[in-house]
Amino acid sequence: MCGIIGVVGSSDTLSTLLEGLQRLEYRGYDSAGVALVRPGQTWRARAADGTQSVAALRLECEHAPSGFSSGIGHTRWATHGAPEAVNAHPHLDCSGNIAIIHNGIIENHSELQEQLESRGHVFTSVTDSEVLAHLIEEERAKGLELIDAVRQSLLIVRGAFALAVMDANEPDVIVAARRISPLVVGTSPGVTYLASDIPAILDKADVFYAVNDDEVVRLAPEGFRAVDLEGAPVRLHQLQIDWDLETAEKGGYDDFMTKEINEQPDALRATLLDRRHSDGTITFDELRISDQELREVKRVVLVAAGTSHHAAQVAKYAIERWASVSVEVDIASEYRYRDPIVEVGTLVIGVSQSGETIDTIMAIREAQRRGARVVAISNIVDSSLAREADAVIYTRAGLEVSVASTKAFVAQVAALELFALRLAQLRQTLAPSDIDALFQGLNAVSAQVAKTLTRRGDYESVAEQLLNTRDFFFLGRHVGFPTALEGALKLKELSYLHAEGYPAGELKHGPLALIEPGVVVVAITTDPNMHEKILSNLAEVKARGATVVAVATDDDEKIAAVADFVFRVPATEPMFTPMIDVVPLQIFAYAIARGLKHEIDRPRNLAKTVTVE
Ligand code: AGP
Repeated sequence: MCGIIGVVGSSDTLSTLLEGLQRLEYRGYDSAGVALVRPGQTWRARAADGTQSVAALRLECEHAPSGFSSGIGHTRWATHGAPEAVNAHPHLDCSGNIAIIHNGIIENHSELQEQLESRGHVFTSVTDSEVLAHLIEEERAKGLELIDAVRQSLLIVRGAFALAVMDANEPDVIVAARRISPLVVGTSPGVTYLASDIPAILDKADVFYAVNDDEVVRLAPEGFRAVDLEGAPVRLHQLQIDWDLETAEKGGYDDFMTKEINEQPDALRATLLDRRHSDGTITFDELRISDQELREVKRVVLVAAGTSHHAAQVAKYAIERWASVSVEVDIASEYRYRDPIVEVGTLVIGVSQSGETIDTIMAIREAQRRGARVVAISNIVDSSLAREADAVIYTRAGLEVSVASTKAFVAQVAALELFALRLAQLRQTLAPSDIDALFQGLNAVSAQVAKTLTRRGDYESVAEQLLNTRDFFFLGRHVGFPTALEGALKLKELSYLHAEGYPAGELKHGPLALIEPGVVVVAITTDPNMHEKILSNLAEVKARGATVVAVATDDDEKIAAVADFVFRVPATEPMFTPMIDVVPLQIFAYAIARGLKHEIDRPRNLAKTVTVE
């Protein structure tokens, strides 16, 4: 995700843009840029300097001309095109008068670019966003006002956008529009603002409005007017904002973890967006490994740490079942010290939210030293892991600030399962119709996660009744086992209480001796293929006095007989259940920690990124 900001009618335009970009850096920072517009002149500066891009942009702007009362700014989270200045926003049209900034993904950018180039347009970047500048240029050439030129262009665009457009031939006007990617408008006397979210303009505007999907807004110093894509007037929804700045950066939530739990549907949508062509081909633009090489893979080894290791364990089941390839999953810090066997056709996948975990980086270095091809699954563009691997697949969860990983986990599972479907497609181990059905199911998970999030209160009320518990077991079978491990890790990290994730089938091989009154057993029971067996496991622990909390599907009528508490979730394809079942476990761990009055975003002893061995 990227951050956008705009202001019209300001007496300190450039500083407003740069300050706002600083506050939007958490949305992405691999490059940044501004455009200032006044009658007949569009001035642009851009910079790309890793995590310091906004600071580098500030230096670029030191000699900016003065006297501009309007401008737009952008901080980038690269999805298409390397994070270099040439790909930084704002992008210009051929005339250099029209400047656009965009957050989102234009799915049909390739075909649009071909058509525009055939009509003589010259592209200067390798991004999907630049097509917008040239489309709007063509509509303006027909004599349309800027707002109508933007509307007409967006009628043929597919994908997600929050965009802002300026034209030196229509000064002191910004046109903004939104579909899926967030956009707010703010007003104060004589000045009007736009931003990806409120922190960027909280100390500038007095009144705030949300822009909804397919709404187009024309901002001018005296205020704004909004229309739908057909041009009919619409009223923007006014927001009640009484936040301080720190709260605003958390999106109005008490902490980043809550914000990020609630961002999981968006993280899933973004990770899957634009990764399946209309002909059904699954594609990862940034994956630099040939289809032939993927066909010839004989074994996959996944290496990761913590939550990422749990996502990797889910991937094992998916790749083996759908692509019929043997898969091994290893703890990154163990992999490099065990003389791993790497033969021809071994593909090693390093999974990491930060892409900076030293254990995972050292593991893939060892794999490469032994001759393996390496793919990185990273949430941070151009992370060390992404740079050192032979190829990368980016999750697009957006920056994850809270130490306890949540949205990155579901995005990793989605990306890895999509990769498993790609392998199945290339190796023809599944019928195309089955792959299509699975893809549609995967695409539907974001809505099911959104539905699960509406049940937060149910999960929290159970946690409040179990605050005095000191011993937790999390049990699961098949992909429910890594889900159980993830639930146990969340609880450990946040509550500092002892919690263990176990394969349910292992209980009678020892751990059952620990079960007694006072112990809480949390079980994942949503896989119909495992349901009967796990219910008998729960009967065993219940008979020995344990308190049972079950994650169960809405239609499960048997669970109440063996569970004291039930976390209801929507039913889905078993392989997708970790992305849904983990949600009540995240909320449960959060609520226990809050009940114990613990700091949430920075738990004791832990760091967001473990860069030391
Ligand atoms: C998860 O909540 C923890 N923060 C931790 O286990 C984390 O998953 C682990 O350190 C790996 O981090 P990475 O995904 O950035 O490599």
